Amino acid sequence: MSEIHEAASLIGTRRPEPCNIVIFGASGDLTKRKLLPALAHMHRWNLIGPESKIIGVVRERWDRSHWVNYVHDQLLNFFPDAVLNPPSWRRIAEKLDVVHGDLGEAELYRKLKAALRTSEGKCNAMFYLAIPPDWHERVAIHLREAGLADEGEGFRRIVVEKPFGTCLRTAKELNAKLLRNFKESQIYRIDHYLGKESVQNLMVFRFANAVFEPMWNRNYIDHVQISVAESLGVEYRALYYDKAGALRDMIQSHLLQVMSLVAMEAPVSLDARAIRDEKLKVLKSVRKIRPDEVDKYAVRAQYATGVVDGEKSAGYRDEPMVDPASTTETFAAVKVFVDNWRWHDVPFLLRTGKKLPARVSEIAIRFRKPPQNLFARYSKETPCNELIFRLHPDEGMVYTINAKQPGLAPELRKLHLDAPYSVPGMGAPEAYETLLHDVLLGEATLFASGSEVEESWRIVQPILDAWQEKKEVQLYSAGSWDVPGIARLMEGCEGDWRDLSVDSTHEFHTLS
Ligand code: BG6
Repeated sequence: MSEIHEAASLIGTRRPEPCNIVIFGASGDLTKRKLLPALAHMHRWNLIGPESKIIGVVRERWDRSHWVNYVHDQLLNFFPDAVLNPPSWRRIAEKLDVVHGDLGEAELYRKLKAALRTSEGKCNAMFYLAIPPDWHERVAIHLREAGLADEGEGFRRIVVEKPFGTCLRTAKELNAKLLRNFKESQIYRIDHYLGKESVQNLMVFRFANAVFEPMWNRNYIDHVQISVAESLGVEYRALYYDKAGALRDMIQSHLLQVMSLVAMEAPVSLDARAIRDEKLKVLKSVRKIRPDEVDKYAVRAQYATGVVDGEKSAGYRDEPMVDPASTTETFAAVKVFVDNWRWHDVPFLLRTGKKLPARVSEIAIRFRKPPQNLFARYSKETPCNELIFRLHPDEGMVYTINAKQPGLAPELRKLHLDAPYSVPGMGAPEAYETLLHDVLLGEATLFASGSEVEESWRIVQPILDAWQEKKEVQLYSAGSWDVPGIARLMEGCEGDWRDLSVDSTHEFHTLS
């Protein structure tokens, strides 16, 4: 990463106070893949001051030198730049400390308390729970009992990873349990989609440009499609995934959060509370799906054997640690309506799946057709204009318009006004980096409130209930877009599901 990039990306960045960054689950997967690289990157940008500590909490009997070597090796894999420069690595290593013990025993928390560093008269701490959800409550209780939730000496913040509950009831219980030990303002519920640059850009696009606002409603928009297609399968996460499925794993959290940003009203300010209130209103307005409507508004499917990237690919039920009779969905699509003045009767179509032919994520706003096809003699139809926010690959925005095909007849062709998001020579922070930085600053805008999480569960709960009753699931071949049943969700919408194949997302013509 060049110096220019570093300097440019830091404009306007606030530097957090020194803090004890405590990672529960420090030897786990999330820590090595996401948290350590994000922290090392922040360190490089001088966003973790010299007085801060990074304390790993592990079950294994690791001493400090073991932890330092472990972090070194993981960074070598996932962010080699951090360790290849010895002076920079030494500065990271100086901040590392480890505490080992049993999460269920008070002794661990006494040791942790003793390990916290006080700097400039303050003992700030962030507790990141990168541990299985059934531990969240117990850890929160122990932290409070050890006096670690008390903000007398500095701020104390607890970061909770998804899954946040497994249904509406358990999410409510978890919220209540956390709130018995920490205040809402101390709790940061991570949804890493909110940390993605292109998702944040959606808010800027909507509220820093006046031109689209008059069209951002039921009068001009036919429907909205939010899609996250993944080419990977369940990988090493079957133990979790086979109980969760795509609806819980992606739609209840990421896709509904993205939808609330698309649909929300302008907040009165950029304060966390103002933004969360607007998002919550959207979620509260989502029409309840009755049990007898589930088949009309939701589709689930599971990948069977197929071919991905030219290689034969196993079916979901043959994946390691998956129940061979599993009916867990690896693909889910849902059609919801936001019943308010702006969006009444505009479908929001949300879909996500694993082992699809490509990794593509996007938000597509499809506008209504012109009232009359004046060019019917030359072109069978006038395609709808679309505004697409690409989250992956090639973050950016594309607006499709109809123009004349050069020639003697007024035939139509589709043009794409393509605005790539990236700036040459200037990278963008990873989602986890943005989110960790915000926790350190006490900035909660990009985190879901307890009420938002509960509302999202309310939306998907009837579908979960209906699917639990069903004994069978439709299959799609790994590596194919052809998922049975999804066409019926397009009823009443203009056109088809967008073609997500990478080729078509790259096939943009630029007017410049
Ligand atoms: C996670 C899900 O929250 O998001 C995974 O648990 C999914 O199943 C991942 O693969 C997708 O995130 P991204 O950033 O790769 O789109």
